[in-house]
Amino acid sequence: MDRLVHIGKKNCVFHPTDSPGHIIKIIHEDILKTEIRGIDLMSKVDPNHEFTLFAQVNSLPQGYQFSKRVTSLCPFLLNTDELAEVVMEYGGKDLMHLMTYSKFRKNTWLSILKGFDGLFQGVVKMVDAKISHSDIKPANITFKNDKLFLIDAGLIAEFHKIYPSEFMNPYLFFPVESNIISLLHNFKKVKISVSDITDYLSLKPAIYLFNITEKQFGFDMYRKFHEEILDFNAENRQVNAVEIVEKFDVYGLAMTLLIIANYIYAFDTKLATDLFIFLIESKVLHFNPLKRATAKESQRRYKRFLIMFVEEHNTILKYVKLLTFSVSNRLNFT
Ligand SMILES: Nc1ncnc2c1ncn2[C@@H]1O[C@H](COP(=O)(O)OP(=O)(O)O)[C@@H](O)[C@H]1O
Ligand SMILES: [Mg+2]
Repeated sequence: MDRLVHIGKKNCVFHPTDSPGHIIKIIHEDILKTEIRGIDLMSKVDPNHEFTLFAQVNSLPQGYQFSKRVTSLCPFLLNTDELAEVVMEYGGKDLMHLMTYSKFRKNTWLSILKGFDGLFQGVVKMVDAKISHSDIKPANITFKNDKLFLIDAGLIAEFHKIYPSEFMNPYLFFPVESNIISLLHNFKKVKISVSDITDYLSLKPAIYLFNITEKQFGFDMYRKFHEEILDFNAENRQVNAVEIVEKFDVYGLAMTLLIIANYIYAFDTKLATDLFIFLIESKVLHFNPLKRATAKESQRRYKRFLIMFVEEHNTILKYVKLLTFSVSNRLNFT
């Protein structure tokens, strides 16, 4: 029996038991065009699949029927004429899953942090090709063999198609500017007011997160958040979308790292604090896109962070292992 991994409104993801190296995503034809387009764009930018996974779109075999159990969970699967399947390489568990269901293992999280270097390099390649993944978040990053992969081609698009767009709802992983741009666009405004921002902030779940981090790290994030948005608004009566679109995915990666810092905090305060301070000081996580680090700058700065902080943890771990190994050897000996 295939394992149902994810239930969406217009897609369902299965992990086939007879082919554990693959993932099957059944999608409704409504989203087929954007999915194919996203997969095509990605395979051009990453032909050797260094940070994305191989994917191929097929039509569903004729007469195929899903079991009652599956159709009760994913009702759109009842009408098989309107479906297609995406066969993908299995990329391992996604980061959201690992944070929610796995036991904390320091080694694993150090490998994951190292793996982010590959994702920053991937974002640099996407920026060079002028495309954006535009949905980078823990659930869309998988971890396998010490490498991270970006999945979910649903929102991948060329830069000129990112702004303005209706999909920009206030959402934790979408950069602040995308919400502002859609506010301006939807209400045909040229400038937003403080009350717009207050309305917008009341919708933003990120505030929960910032309140937590403010307590944990002593940063006045909430005030900064306001200031940066107003600053950005003041500087940009006419928002130059071309200039800032390349920072869209940087924000997604940075926000994902912030979530990881929050998760690690309970187990390793020092590493979590180092990561948090890095994100703020390096400007990889910056609410104002004009001040946020570019993809290239982010990649370089993150690499330096890895060398300075993560390698240090690795060395300590190796040392501890070596010690326990020699102690247990001696114990065995006597
Ligand atoms: N290639 C893959 N390898 C491993 N897990 C995957 C893969 N593709 C999808 N998944 C799992 O299915 C979930 C949903 O797939 P995704 O493509 O992100 O669809 P959606 O557009 O509904 O978010 C992911 O969060 C992940 O857990
Ligand atoms: Mg997804």
